[in-house]
Amino acid sequence: MRGGIVAFPTETVYGLGADVFNERAIRKIFDAKKRPADNPLIAHVGSLDQIPSLTNRASKSAERLIAAFFPGPLTVVLPRSATVPLLATAGLDTIGVRMPSNDLAQQFLRECKVPIVAPSANLSGRPSPTTWMAVSEDLDGRIDCILQGDPTTIGLESTVVDCTGESPVLLRRGAVSFERLREIVSDISEASSEDPDLAKSPGMKHRHYSPMAVVVIADDVTSLVLSTSDAFIGLQRPAGDSDQIRICDSVEDYAASLFEFFRQCDRNGIARIYCEKVSETGIGGALMDRIRRAAEK
Ligand code: TXA
Ligand code: MG
Repeated sequence: MRGGIVAFPTETVYGLGADVFNERAIRKIFDAKKRPADNPLIAHVGSLDQIPSLTNRASKSAERLIAAFFPGPLTVVLPRSATVPLLATAGLDTIGVRMPSNDLAQQFLRECKVPIVAPSANLSGRPSPTTWMAVSEDLDGRIDCILQGDPTTIGLESTVVDCTGESPVLLRRGAVSFERLREIVSDISEASSEDPDLAKSPGMKHRHYSPMAVVVIADDVTSLVLSTSDAFIGLQRPAGDSDQIRICDSVEDYAASLFEFFRQCDRNGIARIYCEKVSETGIGGALMDRIRRAAEK
């Protein structure tokens, strides 16, 4: 990496990577993204044998989650080993660790030979990028390189589970659903937004991306009539006329399309975006979480 910062695709969203042991490079990430310094980064590994360089103690539940879901869209929070710079973890004694499954990500991480800390490759406050063009839109001229892969397949950020306490806590919903986590670690709980435990995931307290437009959750699409300045994304076609309508084939397709659709609406000066409500099972849980955050003003 030679101290550079490189954007690369993963199966969730594009990341902006730096050598976890290079403080100067990590500082460049915070500068390029204009990211608040109290928001910790996730370390990405290309193989399981890199994990001991990041932590010296993985709990039984962490080991089970790693065995079940690595490589894939899951981040486990573990105790930080003393050699990991505090800058990477925003001063925390813990570090998020994830092993992406995307081919180009794996190839890149293996070439790097060290774990790579990477937040999503967007300007802070913008939606996570699901295409290399979205990375370029936000960060062109501010970073060293973009690996131009395909659009990401999942489209929402990884599931984050804190494995440092007595029992695991779900901090951020993602493609690995709560139901699937519970099959592996039955004592897992989900942190609620009022929970003091959420202070453990500083990223969750920062203001979340909401488009310039007002985001409205559409409970019942059959009673909706769009006007020309409205946009819509969901599974069923509403009545009314607008040229900003995205009908998705499945909840997975909806999740994969959401962030790019928000960017497109911003480019087109849309005033209101209706997002169809879906059932919160599988990826629907993470999808509704991101839509609710976008709808908060
Ligand atoms: O899918 C993903 O996770 C993508 C790709 C690039 O891997 N990365 C990503 O990173 O979304 P970022 O930085 O945008 O979001 C990381 C989230 C934040 O909410 C942060 O607070 C939380 O994970 N996090 C990171 N390290 C943590 C730690 N040690 N303890 C608690 N939460 C942590
Ligand atoms: Mg992010």
